[in-house]
Amino acid sequence: MDDPAAPSTARMIDFWLGGEHHFPVDVAAAHAFEGAYGPCAPVFRDLRAFLGRAVRAIAAQGVESFLVFGGGVPTMGNVHEAAPEARVLYTDVDPVTIRLGQQILAGSDRAGYGFGDATDLGTIDPAQLHRFVPGWGRSPVGVVFLGLAAFLDDPTLARTLDELYQATAPGSLLAIDFDTEELAGWPAALAMMGPAFRMRSPTAFRPLLGRWTPTADGIVPVATWRPDGPPAEVPDAFHGGLAVRADD
Ligand SMILES: C[S@@+](CC[C@H](N)C(=O)[O-])C[C@H]1O[C@@H](n2cnc3c(N)ncnc32)[C@H](O)[C@@H]1O
Repeated sequence: MDDPAAPSTARMIDFWLGGEHHFPVDVAAAHAFEGAYGPCAPVFRDLRAFLGRAVRAIAAQGVESFLVFGGGVPTMGNVHEAAPEARVLYTDVDPVTIRLGQQILAGSDRAGYGFGDATDLGTIDPAQLHRFVPGWGRSPVGVVFLGLAAFLDDPTLARTLDELYQATAPGSLLAIDFDTEELAGWPAALAMMGPAFRMRSPTAFRPLLGRWTPTADGIVPVATWRPDGPPAEVPDAFHGGLAVRADD
């Protein structure tokens, strides 16, 4: 695959996780960001560990298929690796990352990758949705919405989450996170995220969930969400949790 002209946050995360699916432009952007902020690998290892715990918790409820938005690079403990028995459709809007994902998953009959704009469910290929998320709209599914809220403004995020609520069957579970105001203390790093990047306080985020009801764990610093052991000592950069789609 030709080197892309622009970096992607998803492939920068792959670099920080020690993966193999990124390009020189991603590594340069990752190094520049660390120059302005500090080491990122521990933060993203902790965030990926949260993804694993959240996905396993959804699978433990008997959920057998997942729809992933802003899926990024499907390796290094991403959804289908955390829930190896499940069927998983990853979606993203970045064509380079989608092509990478399709190459990585080419041999899989359980997990696939396609275009999908989280803000417009109609952009997902119905054949892929039917194949990898067979219960969509009829039985509970897992919806993974991680690393994405920061790129959507409040009205768009609220509308998107409400449309997902309407489209999913009762009992479906949403794994979601948001970026805290951590980068406010690092203006040069914040500037690198671009003008569309959104940080939120817990108070500002909570109403955007709309009818999705957080589990009793709450939406908390990801290191403290059902930790397997002592929570990792990392900056408080991401909060997340699970929310339930109740009965109508
Ligand atoms: C920070 S990365 C997170 C990737 C992955 N979820 C992870 O945790 O490693 C954000 C991803 O969201 C994608 N993205 C941005 N806007 C999107 C949208 N409207 N719909 C779907 N994906 C989007 C980007 O292309 C990028 O791959």
